[in-house]
Amino acid sequence: MSEVKLTVIDRGGETHRLSAETGEVLMHVLRDNVDLEIGICGGEISCGTCLVQLNSDNAERIAAASEDEAEMLDALGAGGDSRLACQIVLDDAADGLQATILYED
Ligand code: FES
Repeated sequence: MSEVKLTVIDRGGETHRLSAETGEVLMHVLRDNVDLEIGICGGEISCGTCLVQLNSDNAERIAAASEDEAEMLDALGAGGDSRLACQIVLDDAADGLQATILYED
């Protein structure tokens, strides 16, 4: 495992600089370090609370969305570089990732 540095902007506009390890799921990192309300379905692609916007440089380096994730993103009306954090397993390519939490309750 190696370290992955993340920059996350929360729903209040506050910036969090986080460290994670390769193999971790982004949703778990966000829930544990930023907002407990993220990921209430546990990664089953049914709640949308883990919706994030990646910056475009990062989005290209992250594995493409599965068909199920893409359907959920459509249902949420999410555009562009939005992703479900529960579907992103951090790897070396994710180092330096910047994400903005989009979900609003
Ligand atoms: S945790 Fe529910 S859709 Fe990602």
